[in-house]
Amino acid sequence: MFPLQRGRRLRVNESIRSLVRETTLSPSDFMFPMFIAEGENYQVEIASMPGIFRRSIDLTVREVKELFELGIRAVNIYVKVDESLKDNTGKEAWNPNGLMQNAIRAIKMACPEMIVMPDVALDPYSIYGHDGIITDGDVANDATNDALVKMAVSHAQAGADFVAPSDMMDGRVLRLRQGLDAAGFHSVGIMSYSAKYASAFYGPFRDALDSAPREIMPDAEPFEVPKDKKTYQMDYANRLEAIKEALWDVEEGADMVMVKPGIAYLDIVREVKNAVNVPVTVFHVSGEYAMIKAAAEKGWLDNDKIMMEQLMCIKRAGASLISTYFAKEAAILLNK
Ligand code: PBG
Repeated sequence: MFPLQRGRRLRVNESIRSLVRETTLSPSDFMFPMFIAEGENYQVEIASMPGIFRRSIDLTVREVKELFELGIRAVNIYVKVDESLKDNTGKEAWNPNGLMQNAIRAIKMACPEMIVMPDVALDPYSIYGHDGIITDGDVANDATNDALVKMAVSHAQAGADFVAPSDMMDGRVLRLRQGLDAAGFHSVGIMSYSAKYASAFYGPFRDALDSAPREIMPDAEPFEVPKDKKTYQMDYANRLEAIKEALWDVEEGADMVMVKPGIAYLDIVREVKNAVNVPVTVFHVSGEYAMIKAAAEKGWLDNDKIMMEQLMCIKRAGASLISTYFAKEAAILLNK
């Protein structure tokens, strides 16, 4: 209907653009994923994730306080487990004095208002690098669920606000809800990694925790061990099962659902957002972070602009919360 209609009227200057902006970002939209290691006053930068560190508990606590000051209200925590503690049962995962449990206690003590969401999955504890217990050449679903319940209850006992199952076993949200309730933890929430795809974007994360599925087995094994996670994480060619998984998780008691990875999966984010009545979270994963950092290092892309554009687009697609390694950088920029 030109010349009566002119879209550019709403873009004339920053003031009018800000008046009609549909989506905004704030530091409380972010959750910061943190890698924890044994030791004291220890930190090492992850080679494939410049600016991201694996830190001992004391340094993690210091960082958490800083994040809170910046307006960040949630952290996702992951541990790097000593090789000697790994096996095929995952039993270190519910050690009341394990690295994860100690980290949760220390963070909650130092910064009680920070929402702490430990990862629930066996991969950092598995000699095979799988999210569950291996039998007969596969990951045993129900036996793994039993282990995950013990793990989640131990996180709740340590003070976790939410548990975040990232394993993709069937029925684990129901089992976790029942297990937490039976142990008296009615107000500990579940943020379920509902639509988690088998993605090559997780590479740098597996470097950080040394948790990639093993190619070479420790000893001759009595069974086959899968070389990848495709029997539990989803096929990236599919959308219907993302909606199905999210709906199941809500029915099973999930308080929030997650879509993962982020940028390449925003169609899924929008569909899940339209299908469920709980907050949708999105994991902007390690590989997405690494790609931006690498291109910025070469001077091919502007780190800050790409970071903000991606985060905004994830939110526009339907995310209520974004788990991102950019959380701190973006919060600093937003606070300026
Ligand atoms: C483990 C887990 C993974 C991520 C979060 N939890 C890796 C995997 O499934 O292999 C990936 C996060 C990232 O890449 O940033 N259950």
